Amino acid sequence: MPQRMPFIAGNWKMYKTAAEAARTAQDLLARLGLGTISGVEVMIAPPYTALDAVGRVLAQSSVQLGAQNVFWADEGAYTGEVAPGMLADLGCRFVLIGHSERRQYFGETDESVGRRISAALRHGLAPVMCIGETEAQRDAGQTFSVLDKQITDGLRNQISDRLGTLVIAYEPVWAIGTGKTATADQAQEAHRFIRGKLAELLGDSFAAATRIVYGGSVKPGNIVELMAMPDIDGALVGGASLKAETFADIVRYRAQ
Ligand code: PGA
Repeated sequence: MPQRMPFIAGNWKMYKTAAEAARTAQDLLARLGLGTISGVEVMIAPPYTALDAVGRVLAQSSVQLGAQNVFWADEGAYTGEVAPGMLADLGCRFVLIGHSERRQYFGETDESVGRRISAALRHGLAPVMCIGETEAQRDAGQTFSVLDKQITDGLRNQISDRLGTLVIAYEPVWAIGTGKTATADQAQEAHRFIRGKLAELLGDSFAAATRIVYGGSVKPGNIVELMAMPDIDGALVGGASLKAETFADIVRYRAQ
């Protein structure tokens, strides 16, 4: 089985000015020991307006820069949107796609997620495709069918030879920002299902090599048990990534 490098990502959502974000990034690097983090890939996704400032701070480190969304066209008359090439130009290596807040508030669909994934891959950005069921869907026993549709529709017709850079973030909507974490067993069950689905769609070796990370109220107190699960390859961290100290503790989960 291929070794999957653990991936710990911070999603700063709509928090922090450019100066605040740069300061937090500096603080994080100071705590992690500038570029010497080994055995884990770390990514920060600040707001668009802070990408440049944070990118400059991260430039001499191994911490990667990511964006929180991307539009699917290469350029054009799309007021207010940001193109994938613009993100790559600022040094982004990753981009979150289809976060549940985008789906909930901004009309993101599995079809638009698919278009954004293609655009990201075209420009060498690694897509972090976010999927997950709502509380009502879980209660109705629809978790697996929802995940099935999100994966199948989001990855339909993706023919890029860069698809291997894809990361999947399983984020049960009921666990995001609520303090309710899925238990490690619940998360593992969903991750195992997702890996099985990837195997069905893209083959066993693709599935075995693809990182599937968990998101939803991850904190220093639950990261260790999550990471102990065989199909959990990392975390997408919202609230607990806003403070360098807490995020650094999550990144260094092995030291706990
Ligand atoms: P949370 O957010 O860690 O604050 O629950 C996770 C996310 O939205 O990616």
